[in-house]
Amino acid sequence: MKILVVGGAGYIGSHMVKMLLDEGHKVVTFDNLSSGFRDAVLGGDFVEGDLANTAMLDDVFTKYKPEAVMHFASYIQVGESVQHPAKYYFNNFTNTLNLLNTMVKHQVNSFIFSSTAAVFGEPEYVPIDEAHPKAPLNPYGRSKLMVEQILADYEHAYGLKSVCLRYFNAAGADPGALLGERHEPETHLIPLVLQAISGRRSHISVFGRDYDTPDGTCIRDYIHIVDLCSAHLLALTQLVKDGVSQRFNLGNGAGFSVQEVISVAEQVTGKKVNVIDAPRRAGDPARLVADATLAKNTLGWSPVYTDLATIIAHAWAWETK
Ligand code: UFG
Repeated sequence: MKILVVGGAGYIGSHMVKMLLDEGHKVVTFDNLSSGFRDAVLGGDFVEGDLANTAMLDDVFTKYKPEAVMHFASYIQVGESVQHPAKYYFNNFTNTLNLLNTMVKHQVNSFIFSSTAAVFGEPEYVPIDEAHPKAPLNPYGRSKLMVEQILADYEHAYGLKSVCLRYFNAAGADPGALLGERHEPETHLIPLVLQAISGRRSHISVFGRDYDTPDGTCIRDYIHIVDLCSAHLLALTQLVKDGVSQRFNLGNGAGFSVQEVISVAEQVTGKKVNVIDAPRRAGDPARLVADATLAKNTLGWSPVYTDLATIIAHAWAWETK
């Protein structure tokens, strides 16, 4: 297939582009390089452009004639979204509308959307399945839920079919260390711990040890980037074949605490990290764990790199490359 990957120069998008190319698909990456990197796009066509530029977007559809679209381009910092909601609603919502409207105009009907566990807000129960109430706590989560909601209207009126994939904590790196996690600024736990171990940072702060969890630190569901991408590929294949719009939660179903992540990182690297206890970070739920049964049963998805040590080892190979 010919697939337009929007945000294909970012962390998740670049791993997706690599997988699509490895599987023999044709790829066009569209990215404004605001947080992605040109050299992370390992092949296919590349267009530097912004979703706000609808004329350019229109040209891309005319020139490349994609059969499906995967959309990874968004701002992802929860705290920043609280300070600057306009930035988040504009980029994550309005710009996505531009993309959807261009798809409708060009009759491209298959859309894979990067959603997030943040659509659920504070969990009422864990593991979180797709039926869990959606009550985002911040503009970031709301901007993603708004897209999920309008997709039903776009399907009803325009026949646009979609799969929304709600990521829990994407982590790890390409097993061959060709790609890895590069955020500027970095806010995610695993790369921050590894940067503190490699000496790029002085320490890792643990945001709160007084949560209602066995060791008092927050629990998250870390899912390997390659497993995340393989779910996208299966979702796209099934969407094109069956034309059924769906929503899936993507995680390992196993939770690890911040302290466990630090301990496993020390084991994997054989080095100690300087840990500083810090206050809670605003808006962090104590425990976020996915119930990904639906994705497994419906898509035949079976994550391969479920072991936290493997996820961290791949991230470490990238960090030390
Ligand atoms: N943490 C620390 N110290 C740090 C960084 C993180 O203790 O320096 C803790 C956080 O408080 C949290 C855990 O490590 O408990 C994981 O934090 P991340 O920032 O790595 O990931 P989040 O769970 O906050 O974020 C993820 C996605 C976001 C998404 C969010 C939805 O990365 O994009 O889930 O809840 F918005």
